[in-house]
Amino acid sequence: MDLKVVEHYDEMSEVAANLVAGTIKDKKDAVLGLATGSTPEGMYARMVEMYRRKLIDFSTVTTFNLDEYIGLEPDHPQSYHYYMNRNLFDHVNIDPENISIPYSGSDKGLEETCRKFDERIEQAGGIDLQVLGIGVNGHIGFNEPARHLKAGTHLVELAEETIEANSRFFQSKDEVPRKAITMGMGSIMKAGKVLLMASGINKAEAVRDSLSGLVSTKTPASLLQLHRDIVIVIDREAASLL
Ligand code: PGA
Repeated sequence: MDLKVVEHYDEMSEVAANLVAGTIKDKKDAVLGLATGSTPEGMYARMVEMYRRKLIDFSTVTTFNLDEYIGLEPDHPQSYHYYMNRNLFDHVNIDPENISIPYSGSDKGLEETCRKFDERIEQAGGIDLQVLGIGVNGHIGFNEPARHLKAGTHLVELAEETIEANSRFFQSKDEVPRKAITMGMGSIMKAGKVLLMASGINKAEAVRDSLSGLVSTKTPASLLQLHRDIVIVIDREAASLL
């Protein structure tokens, strides 16, 4: 486990963007697993800047997003489709054919959608680098704390803490979707390399529980301790309970 404690959010974003850029430079047809939320926004801004300066090229890169709310159309401002377009895809030369985000506005055949998502990852040769944030409750993607976790991409009910945490992006808590599709911990653990980012004091407990040496499905991120190539980039506040 490679743990990098940096000063603040901007430095975390810089280190993370350099790691992603390095992956793309090493392998032109890299397959990236991408995350949404506040945590990677600064990283995406830097990746867009690197693209503008012709330091990275996305034309042969393939991406898979970790998760998406069920019930939001792709053009809904809080959907992860919208987030990804606004933060990255609209600004770089990625081929839309190479972008996969679970759930695309149709509630039909969701189980099949999940199965096909994992199949597509396999067909792409697997994820080279999976980018992750962490929830205040230790979730990864929408793998919420539970007695059992599902390995593959699956449908989930969001935990109360997640609905609460994500309500800041919506007009009211009632508008936060209750269901989502998420890559499973198995899909995530299959990635060649994992990059976990966290910033701020509100992530300190989740970070401590995830890196404590104990592995529990009650803190899904703790399973990442079993990954053989994980880089953790966190700022001082997020690291304050380690
Ligand atoms: P955040 O969310 O980056 O908006 O804090 C992270 C997560 O819930 O995984």
